Amino acid sequence: MAPSKRVFLFTAVAAASTLHGRQALNQSTPPTVTLNGSTIENPTAYATPFVLNVEDMWDLLVGPVSTALVTTTASATPVPSSSLIPPPPLYYSSFPSGQQNPMVVKNESWSFPRGFMWGVAGAAWQVEGAVKDEGRGPSVWDVLSHRVTNFEYDNGTADITDNHYYLYKQDLARLAALGVKAYSFSISWSRIMPFGRGPVNQIAIDHYNDLINTCLGYNIIPLATLYHWDTPLALQDTYGGWLSENIVNDFVEYARIAYAAFGDRVDYWFTVNEPSVFCNQYPLPAQYFKNFTIPWQQQPYYCGHNVLLAHSQAYRLGKSMMPNSTIAWKSNGGYKVPLTNSTEDAEAVQRAWDFNEGLWSDPIYLTGDYNDNVKAYISSFLPAFTDGQKAAILGSADIYAHDAYTSQFNFAPDGGIAACLANTSNPLYPVCSNSSFIYTQQDGGWLIGPAADPLTPWLYKATDWVPAFLHYIKDTWAKDKPIAVSEFGFAEPFERQKTYLQDILFDPIRSAYYHDYMEAILIALSEGVNVIGCLAWSFVDNFEWASAYGVRFGMQYVNFSDPTLPRYYKASFFEYKNAFDVYQEK
Ligand code: GAL
Repeated sequence: MAPSKRVFLFTAVAAASTLHGRQALNQSTPPTVTLNGSTIENPTAYATPFVLNVEDMWDLLVGPVSTALVTTTASATPVPSSSLIPPPPLYYSSFPSGQQNPMVVKNESWSFPRGFMWGVAGAAWQVEGAVKDEGRGPSVWDVLSHRVTNFEYDNGTADITDNHYYLYKQDLARLAALGVKAYSFSISWSRIMPFGRGPVNQIAIDHYNDLINTCLGYNIIPLATLYHWDTPLALQDTYGGWLSENIVNDFVEYARIAYAAFGDRVDYWFTVNEPSVFCNQYPLPAQYFKNFTIPWQQQPYYCGHNVLLAHSQAYRLGKSMMPNSTIAWKSNGGYKVPLTNSTEDAEAVQRAWDFNEGLWSDPIYLTGDYNDNVKAYISSFLPAFTDGQKAAILGSADIYAHDAYTSQFNFAPDGGIAACLANTSNPLYPVCSNSSFIYTQQDGGWLIGPAADPLTPWLYKATDWVPAFLHYIKDTWAKDKPIAVSEFGFAEPFERQKTYLQDILFDPIRSAYYHDYMEAILIALSEGVNVIGCLAWSFVDNFEWASAYGVRFGMQYVNFSDPTLPRYYKASFFEYKNAFDVYQEK
């Protein structure tokens, strides 16, 4: 059966239940509406099963999408040697070797171990394009970008983005030409299963098979992420995506299909990417997705709970199917520095760890259950984990993988933590920890480090804190397990405004970020922190979620105005590579 003919039983609930916004979510009784003079007590009782195929879903729920110039898999062409010449000196001293570092000597006490996986990362929805091709079903992000007014910077869509779906052979050739050792990609769930469950799309399996085989052909280690935020739309519309425990079985079934198809060649797996980001996105923008009776403040925690269940079961299944694999999830968040040495600020720092990284890391690495600060908030509305669930969660990661981009200061809210905890309408409730990127006036009032693009206000080049950050992860959660910096990277300020190619390619702050970050990892390694790899975000400029093409994270520039989407190495890619040329044990 051709993928576009596969059917999905879509239950459309009477429109009245979807037309209210956040305010209505707290109500526990169904709404009452008046139609033609007669009162209907429970309009949600009216339901209809629609049968939709993939094409219908796109047409009805997303609308027309753009297609790229290239719509078949392109073969790789040789990378010209002239494009592999490193840039001249930047404005700081670089590592010793290559054209850009005339003055510095190598630090002989540093090295990356031979097996250190230095690589790059991307994610399906941000780089693939070809959103509607070859049987892919829509994800929530296709809807957000097409249907939610002003949601995307400049109304961008990821319909085409880097067209990596068809250009991956050339992309991998370009990574291989620089000697990159590892490529971290995500699998699009709704390509494999257009409705998130049910029929499996063999064309998608064939696609990722070839991508993986192409990696292996270049001796590039493939690392696969099962879920990088692109929830299949059908699951969102049917039961609310991660808000419903229904997602657990569907995710585990999807994991089973991916492990069975690719597990003979992919040894490194990440289940979910950054739950603290995608769970905190709930409630998703009102009016577009079915609202539930879960109060909006609680929605991130329902999501988090279901993530722990889904992740732990997918981990256990993966280890049973691929005993030699390495499986983890991807945590994220900046290093949290107390703004002052007050006791309240120390407590604010702890609360920030507890509600962000700790919400998942404490159960997975320490106890099988939530920490006390989280429990104090969620125990009134979420069920406690059963003993069986706790046992499955505890130890469900072989490494600690952290997307460690930046650092921040944390401090107690105005009026103190206790007052915040007593006031559920405080905007900082329930975490009750404030944050900033600026030192106190007594410490000079400086930024923690140079700012990235204004569209990424959460990101500063705070690389000095990275060794302390890695020690903290080791001491708190990883203990004897290896650590991977599974994403890190920088958005050069205002890069989108540059028009002159050579100017775009010379990205000094990003280059300094990678240089100093590598130095920080070398320091941590020399101090005994077992970092097994790092994956730079990203190998190309791509679709940066709600910032669309307004923000550039690539170590390669992509000219999105040229329909052939040409790629060019930026100076930062050479800086990154150079660290390994100099410091990796041969
Ligand atoms: C990460 C995310 C990536 C990418 C990056 C830069 O949090 O996993 O998808 O967007 O941030 O913002």
